[in-house]
Amino acid sequence: MSALFGDDLMARPRREIAPGAVHVPGWLSLEQQGWISARYREWVRGPVPLRGAKIRGHEMSVKTVCLGWHWQPYKYTREATDVNGQQVLPFPEWMVRLGRLAVSEAYGLDQATYTPDTALVNYYDAGARMGMHQDKDEVSLESVVSLSIGDACQFRFGNSEGRGRPYEDVILESGDLFVFGGPSRLAFHGVTKIFAETAPEGCGIESGRINITLRETGLGGSEDKGTE
Ligand code: SIN
Ligand code: MN
Repeated sequence: MSALFGDDLMARPRREIAPGAVHVPGWLSLEQQGWISARYREWVRGPVPLRGAKIRGHEMSVKTVCLGWHWQPYKYTREATDVNGQQVLPFPEWMVRLGRLAVSEAYGLDQATYTPDTALVNYYDAGARMGMHQDKDEVSLESVVSLSIGDACQFRFGNSEGRGRPYEDVILESGDLFVFGGPSRLAFHGVTKIFAETAPEGCGIESGRINITLRETGLGGSEDKGTE
């Protein structure tokens, strides 16, 4: 019954969490999740490995590998100068299409101009967390597209003024889409909890959570530039 009539999706309707911040549960099919998980296993083979970025000397519990541009606190570079100096993998064309579909889905408009050029691919084990932060190392203020695969998490979505209240806790499950742009583009957000062993069969990973955020850096060209 639940597969036939989508009980799960009825219990988790799509919702605008704040102006410009839209949660679309179950946007990716299991087949799409499995396919992206297989790509993830290719990306982590390098040339740049998964690594926990260091924030003021502390290694993040979330491990990241990037496509297109390498993110390090607080800049984007073509080479992973804080890891092994290798150039990151190119940003795949299919991700531009996926990003456009995602933004169109969230805002109900044809978003033919959205052109993400970096993906931060994060891996969370059961103990990983991400503190409240803003995505503000991009020059462009185009929307951020977030895709989740694997274990569910508690995602905290707040306001643009600071890390504290008001915020809302949203459960992101495997296949969910979350887009934040417009007045929510600089809202603080973080991941407060991973629900271990909740990854659905067939999503392509057995444990842990993959999160992919697509962004427009606004950097263009090929030189390294930062916002520091
Ligand atoms: C991020 O804030 O960059 C990642 C958010 C998430 O893992 O859902
Ligand atoms: Mn973020």
